[in-house]
Amino acid sequence: MLLVLACVCAVALAAGQKWLAIAKDDLHDPQSPGVGVLQEPAEALGALGAQVPDAVGNQVRWVQALDRGLIQPRTNILPETKVNLRTTEVLLVNTAHMGLVKFPHRQHTAWLDCSNCHGAVGLFEQKAGATKIGMFRVLAGEKCGLCHGAVAFPLTECDRCHSVKRDGPEHAAFNGALVREAGSP
Ligand code: HEC
Ligand code: HEC
Ligand code: HEC
Repeated sequence: MLLVLACVCAVALAAGQKWLAIAKDDLHDPQSPGVGVLQEPAEALGALGAQVPDAVGNQVRWVQALDRGLIQPRTNILPETKVNLRTTEVLLVNTAHMGLVKFPHRQHTAWLDCSNCHGAVGLFEQKAGATKIGMFRVLAGEKCGLCHGAVAFPLTECDRCHSVKRDGPEHAAFNGALVREAGSP
């Protein structure tokens, strides 16, 4: 028990040291009067980063923070806006030697509306396998790269997207299809 506590503290300490002070982050002008008014990232993110730490990005595992109820983001500004959750997972298979990419709808629609990706914005077709994506576009900040590396976990985390081993058990669980319900046997 003591060991567990010690580990948790070590994680918290390590996490607390990761966020650079605003005056020292090489992004803000240290002479600006805004420095000292803005909340320090370590103060804003430290508690979350200790509970659901991430080694990359802003050091918080946001999907876990939401799933565990550690944050309750406001779902709507206008009262008529409804959260529309979709729970299918889509395999994107043009990945050369890399693992297949599993796109999970639930983790996205918990934060985002269908119209952020489908319809007029034209990011992705609503038909599995119909969109031309490709790593080059993603790295150029298009498609998945519009958010990943900007507001969601960075593109250096290859395996978080390329998570399904070709012909491995999880691939087999799709039964030859590109789409299935998350968590279905
Ligand atoms: C973050 C972006 C994103 C959001 C938000 C999103 N989707 Fe998708 N959707 C995708 C991607 C990527 C695919 C796969 C496209 C492909 O394979 O060409 C897809 C595929 C689909 C498909 C075909 C596969 C399937 O699941 O049956 C449907 C239908 C679909 N989306 C509906 C929706 C609906 C309805 C919503 C809102 C509740 C939604 N999507 C929200 C990215 C998104
Ligand atoms: C945010 C999700 C994401 C991350 C992170 C990611 N990829 Fe990809 N990758 C994709 C998608 C989506 C495709 C296209 C799949 C499709 O169209 O069927 C792809 C395709 C590829 C391909 C196939 C060839 C090509 O040019 O499209 C390679 C190789 C690849 N990725 C390598 C990597 C490597 C190496 C990393 C880590 C440095 C990485 N990817 C990180 C989503 C990602
Ligand atoms: C409109 C913005 C947006 C687009 C486009 C987008 N994502 Fe995401 N994605 C997010 C956000 C926000 C999260 C949650 C925060 C995080 O994990 O960093 C997320 C989380 C994820 C997760 C983590 C799920 C988990 O359980 O931890 C995966 C995997 C993922 N995205 C893959 C993809 C792939 C593959 C594509 C392209 C086919 C894509 N995303 C396109 C915004 C987006």
